[in-house]
Amino acid sequence: MVGPFDPEIRRNPYPFYAQARRHHPFIYHENTGYRSIFRYEDIISVLKDWSGWASDGVRVPEISSHPDLPPNMLSQDPPEHQRLRGFIRDQFMPRVVRTLGGRVESIVQRLLDDAIPKGRVDFADTVAHPLPVIVIGSILGVPDEDWTRLRTWADILSDRLGARLARDNPNNDAYEKELRVLQEMNQYFTALLDERRGQPRNDLLSELANPNAAGDQLNEKELLQMLMLIVMASTETTGGLIGNAVIELSRHPDQQGFLRQHPEAIPQAIEEVLRYTSPAQLTLRLARRDHVLADTLVKEGKTVLLWLGSANRDENVFPNAEQFDCTRTDNRHIAFGIGPHYCLGARLVRLEALIALRTLLRRTRGFCVLQHERLEYHSSPFFRLVTHLPVELDA
Ligand code: HEM
Repeated sequence: MVGPFDPEIRRNPYPFYAQARRHHPFIYHENTGYRSIFRYEDIISVLKDWSGWASDGVRVPEISSHPDLPPNMLSQDPPEHQRLRGFIRDQFMPRVVRTLGGRVESIVQRLLDDAIPKGRVDFADTVAHPLPVIVIGSILGVPDEDWTRLRTWADILSDRLGARLARDNPNNDAYEKELRVLQEMNQYFTALLDERRGQPRNDLLSELANPNAAGDQLNEKELLQMLMLIVMASTETTGGLIGNAVIELSRHPDQQGFLRQHPEAIPQAIEEVLRYTSPAQLTLRLARRDHVLADTLVKEGKTVLLWLGSANRDENVFPNAEQFDCTRTDNRHIAFGIGPHYCLGARLVRLEALIALRTLLRRTRGFCVLQHERLEYHSSPFFRLVTHLPVELDA
């Protein structure tokens, strides 16, 4: 049968997910050897049980087996996972994230100052995607003018991650390109980290370059992995969320109107966008022992794909799950995962999305996506997001 990687299915995976939840809650993919599950309860049971399901050992082929790269925190289990997470956890705590409000606000205003007078813009390219790259660049402490490099690196690495998972044309050029990006990132960050060792500043690079309060420090390779993870995890997904919000509010003008009248409901609307079009569609776990999952035996050592994007549309958990409703309550979506690997950046994402949407609604009388039917979604099965978003902004 066709699988969730099929390019036609990726264009709109939701009917496929609905069928899978109903009739094939467990699918074995012969070509890749992976297994997929789609129901909310099945996925939650895996994510919560870290002693039965590992992140360590879940490696997407090719680059992750590169001898130069150690695993990052996403592909580690406790206790090593907590050690790595501990290096950046405090930076994403509510009290720290709250202090970023002013900085995010001024970046959003600047991006909208450029976009709004133009009337018709590619919103993904001019606002949604630059915003999280500039924000994470400023948290890290990379020079302002370098954010486009971060974006290019994140784009290339994300594309390759998806292609490797789907085992699409393992092609040497793409592999070489990925290695080149890793080398460039390595050189770039090594120079900045060296600077920060001599002269620490008030930024995340300085924190990472120097020993933490417990006297522990990341080695050079762990540092590179940590920085790659931060850049990759924070950029495409957050830009995707803001783009998805603009798409849904354009498809549902009544709900756009409601939010203009009731800006206090914007946080709830953001949760609904996260549920309805989850920017991160999937994650993976490896069976530490034999399990029965969706009435199927999964042997120890097998990798299972958990389709978060499907879980968040499960009718058994979300009434009228296929409807976008920004007044939805009891929204227990798992767009940020659940359990020990719960997204470290969730608070930052919510802050960025809130400020972006609130400011866009305040500064325009309306916005609508042009040619909805022509929108191109990211080809990677990891994501549900557009990289181009033609929009008309009515100032
Ligand atoms: C809409 C935006 C985002 C979405 C949908 C998202 C989604 C996720 C998901 C689903 C996971 C868990 C994966 C798993 O359990 O295997 C995760 C982990 C993670 N996310 Fe996010 N993320 C977003 C933005 C961010 C941002 C802005 C950062 C900023 C640094 C970030 C950093 C991380 C990190 C470091 C992890 C790994 C946590 C761990 O392994 O303990 N993410 N994210």
